[in-house]
Amino acid sequence: MANDGQLMDKLVSLCKRRGFIFQSSEIYGGTGSVWDYGPLGVELQRNVKEAWWRAMVHERDDIEGLDAAILMHPRVWEASGHVAGFTDPLVDCKACKARFRADQLEESSCPRKPSKHPGEHGDCELTEPRLFNLMFKTFMGPVEDAAAVVYLRPETAQGSYVNFQNVLNSGRQRIPFGIAQIGKAFRNEITPGNFIFRTREFEQMEMQFFVEPGSDEEWFEYWKAKRMEWMHGLGLSPERLRFHEHGPNELAHYAKRAFDIQYEFPFGWSEFEGVHNRTDFDLRRHQEYSGKKLEYVDPVDRNKRYLPYVIETAIGVGRTVLAVLADAYHEEEVEGENRVVMRLHPRLAPTKVAVFPLVRKDDMPELAEKLQRELRAAGVPSFFDDSGSIGRRYRRQDEAGTPFGITVDGQSVADGTVTIRHRDTLRQDRIDATQTVAYVRDLIR
Ligand code: GAP
Repeated sequence: MANDGQLMDKLVSLCKRRGFIFQSSEIYGGTGSVWDYGPLGVELQRNVKEAWWRAMVHERDDIEGLDAAILMHPRVWEASGHVAGFTDPLVDCKACKARFRADQLEESSCPRKPSKHPGEHGDCELTEPRLFNLMFKTFMGPVEDAAAVVYLRPETAQGSYVNFQNVLNSGRQRIPFGIAQIGKAFRNEITPGNFIFRTREFEQMEMQFFVEPGSDEEWFEYWKAKRMEWMHGLGLSPERLRFHEHGPNELAHYAKRAFDIQYEFPFGWSEFEGVHNRTDFDLRRHQEYSGKKLEYVDPVDRNKRYLPYVIETAIGVGRTVLAVLADAYHEEEVEGENRVVMRLHPRLAPTKVAVFPLVRKDDMPELAEKLQRELRAAGVPSFFDDSGSIGRRYRRQDEAGTPFGITVDGQSVADGTVTIRHRDTLRQDRIDATQTVAYVRDLIR
């Protein structure tokens, strides 16, 4: 699938057509690298977040959830190193006024024709590289001066560090334990792109696991394995997932060791999730900058005090949605006709079941509507469709990734049974209509 530009184009177009993802402010010409999730996209995104929260918080007793604010005290970003170090080196071209990442000139294109790399046109005039901070700045309160500057957070992690003592004490936790967050983050990326892969506004699912120094390497291995297991559980193809260890030049300023889990996106292998050993860097810096003690005191041996090390797992929601969509996309021939089918894991699928009356007469619509009311009342996302041939209705739901289709036909009216069609295998079973809710619920759990 690597470098499959065609697949990317097909995905973008399917996402718009079916209501997964739209370009932000499209009627105004769009906003650079910001995307809106439509009716199906928002459900898929919620299901991704739900799967993460379930694995990281609800199924464990050693991780607590948190929802910290986006706007934080500006000193947080000095302590974290983001004010000084969260930068990309940029060069400007005085001839065409475009700006490029100094370390990516080979992969960038000059906006002028014929297409060349920056610096390759005779009159290109590139400046020396300057550091550009990726944090979005705004002002808090009515006065727009330097004292009022605050930042839109570029990661959720810092909210977990500054709340370390609050969560530890209120949750009556003991080390090792973790803090999990899902929330928006913002980065003024210089080279965003590849649809929702790299955007300027995005959501992260991050977990900070606090451990005793010395046990960090063991926990690091544990979390690498756990996160890979989670990805397999989403139904992603194992052969499109791999680890990549950061070399000395790739390591972030806070990391002792870091692995990316990479996914083979249609444009090639790229970072999907980061697992980082952040040592005690963040807690030490916050202790220093805030003047507040952030040490952990062992409740059994009160002489044992230390600043915990942190193992972090950090993944983007949008990046997960993109991996899930790319993995799910299939084109195949069914009974002499082509179909596009999104083989989304039933737990992630936006709509779980579509209900179709075979024809609009002979009590079939009424029976189908009753069935859909029951599904709605049971909280199973469903869709009613009575327009067009049954084949076309199946195709529309295949593209939306709906795993099950229920057809109400003449026999349904006579004996109270319906057929249930399985999206991937095309198998059709006949079941009692009263069993539908229980049957579908079992399959989407
Ligand atoms: N707290 C550590 C941290 O933020 P990161 O590697 O910069 O580490 C973690 O980001 C994850 O967040 C990435 O692996 C990616 O999934 C997602 N992410 C980062 N920047 C992104 C962007 N501009 N657009 C979409 N997702 C992004």
